Amino acid sequence: MSGDRLVGKVALITGAARGIGAACARRFRREGCALALFDRDEDGLRQIARELGGLAIVGDVTAPADLDRAAAATLAQLGPVTVLVNNAGISITGGVEEISEADWDQTFAVNVKSIYLASRAVIPQMRAAGGGSIVNMASESAFIGFEMHPAYCASKAAVVHLSRSMAARYAREAIRVNALCPGTIDTELYRAFIARQPDPDLVHRQIVAMHPLGIGTPEDIAHAALYLASDESRYTTGAPMLVDGGSTAI
Ligand code: NAI
Repeated sequence: MSGDRLVGKVALITGAARGIGAACARRFRREGCALALFDRDEDGLRQIARELGGLAIVGDVTAPADLDRAAAATLAQLGPVTVLVNNAGISITGGVEEISEADWDQTFAVNVKSIYLASRAVIPQMRAAGGGSIVNMASESAFIGFEMHPAYCASKAAVVHLSRSMAARYAREAIRVNALCPGTIDTELYRAFIARQPDPDLVHRQIVAMHPLGIGTPEDIAHAALYLASDESRYTTGAPMLVDGGSTAI
């Protein structure tokens, strides 16, 4: 599938080197979007930038200076950012008695605080451009309390509510903010989680069974991100958009 749904737009995508972020980059490119790709994984980033022809920015989403540099480089080389996909995220297993404070803080730094940092770097450009769309990657975990993932679940619920608050503030400036909530998607993040389980096959089967449509692909999420990034979603803001294979329906 390809078309012109994002022609004239400039997207900054975090966590773009692989998985859902890379799928969004590929899908957006096929709709004519100019791409600024941001990740801490330099090799993966260079590879996808070579494939798609985007601007590659190596950095860490927990570092304010890296995000400010990304926003400035994108403006200088591609023009104002009109789509921001806050996709970089991590998942650390461990109940409240097991997870270390450092891992708790890192989960919130990568999954939540980065959205504040990237958004404040980019919103002035969106404002000057007359509007924009911010897509924050949340999760089905915002609505399901997985027992071994309290930090991750809490961080993704925070992403949903942060998106609502930002939506309320920026609607008057034609900047929309939505939370995309994937179900379980076959990426390295998911495979690493499964590999950490005492019985990986059993946990995989349990997770598949939790989703009436089974486990999804990164492309399934990229289609929804495309909708939220494009003007077709112009009346949608502050929405938690579930693309979860039915996991929260049962
Ligand atoms: P992934 O682990 O395959 O890819 C994540 C990318 O983000 C990697 O390229 C990684 O280098 C980058 N990244 C991580 N921390 C970073 C940091 N501090 N600074 C810069 N880049 C960083 O993950 P996946 O599965 O593609 O997940 C993407 C997003 O979707 C995450 O926010 C995740 O929580 C969310 N999500 C994933 C689901 C899944 O089942 N895979 C389900 C629901 C949500």
